[in-house]
Amino acid sequence: MKNILITGGAGFIGSNFVRYLYNKYPDYRLIVLDALTYAGSVQNLPENGFSSERFEFWYGNVMNADLVDALVGKADIVFHFAAESHVTRSIFDNRLFFETDVLGTQVVSNAVLRNRERIELFVHISTSEVYGTAVGEVMDEDHPLNPMSPYAAAKCGADRLVYSYWQTYNIPAVIIRPFNNFGPYQHLEKVIPRFITSAIIGEPMTVHGDGSARRDFLFVDDHCEALDRVLHSDKQSVIGQVINLGTKRDVSVLEIAEILKSIMGEAHCDVEFVGNRPGQVFRHTCDASKAESLLGWRPSTSFEDGLRKTVDWYVANREWWEHQRWMRHIPIVTADGKRELH
Ligand SMILES: NC(=O)c1ccc[n+]([C@@H]2O[C@H](COP(=O)([O-])OP(=O)(O)OC[C@H]3O[C@@H](n4cnc5c(N)ncnc54)[C@H](O)[C@@H]3O)[C@@H](O)[C@H]2O)c1
Repeated sequence: MKNILITGGAGFIGSNFVRYLYNKYPDYRLIVLDALTYAGSVQNLPENGFSSERFEFWYGNVMNADLVDALVGKADIVFHFAAESHVTRSIFDNRLFFETDVLGTQVVSNAVLRNRERIELFVHISTSEVYGTAVGEVMDEDHPLNPMSPYAAAKCGADRLVYSYWQTYNIPAVIIRPFNNFGPYQHLEKVIPRFITSAIIGEPMTVHGDGSARRDFLFVDDHCEALDRVLHSDKQSVIGQVINLGTKRDVSVLEIAEILKSIMGEAHCDVEFVGNRPGQVFRHTCDASKAESLLGWRPSTSFEDGLRKTVDWYVANREWWEHQRWMRHIPIVTADGKRELH
């Protein structure tokens, strides 16, 4: 019986991963720690989890060192997802980002350090945002770190903090840098669910700048499969490594709107332009060859197929997202100095 602690397991990617592990590995005990911020919900956790002996949920903060120590002390493996995760919100108000993403990661890393004899693997979920805009064709793990938003800077701090703990204290850390994820259970503030639900509600999709910013979008199930491989890899081959996860295909924001038109129908998909988001990353394209060689992993869902599955889920689960409608837009001062809802 393995004990796996998952911080941030009630959020988008964390809960997809919790459900994935819960359904696939009946022998694993899952311990989820989540502060249930606006981005997390117990609704996202496995349906029968609360009545199961192999599932524990702890409502709490990753900055609570006593609690984190106690939970890490019961775990064999730690996956650390908990973070403030929305770029635009970090432009609006960034203090919490540095507290949760940097100091929260320090607390989790300290707990891993104190339980070094027990912990087999500490998987830190970083992000491709640490790179900033691509300087070459594709971005491998040696791409310079040029975070362009407060969110990216906070995550970059956390990423390098974990690296320094591996170097200094030899904790069994691996750093994962996923590119943009999408799929079921993603908060409406993120671009793909925002577009899909705007189309469902009959409101225009709001596009930042001219919509030419390009991202590499990874379907969340493919991300879970990669983390599964990390969990079951020869630990010595991944400890101390930084690993990108992405598809090597970038798609512009306007292209997303076009593809959604073909899935959801012209009538539902108007586009409205708003000012450029400050700190905008212009292009992100992943080189995931390290994940392929170390883990034997390649994403298997095309962007179009993932988008179709995601649309179906949002159409079928309106009661899940209806109450988030008011949070789809955030007031910020744009790159042109205008106050706008983004
Ligand atoms: N979504 C993406 O496209 C993407 C891409 C790359 C990396 N990531 C990273 O993956 C991780 C998960 O992202 P997500 O999209 O699922 O985020 P999310 O915002 O949907 O979920 C974050 C979860 O963390 C919890 N949380 C926040 N602050 C906490 C705290 N102080 N203590 C305990 N729990 C707390 C929230 O309640 C929520 O359940 C994050 O670390 C993020 O930086 C996300």
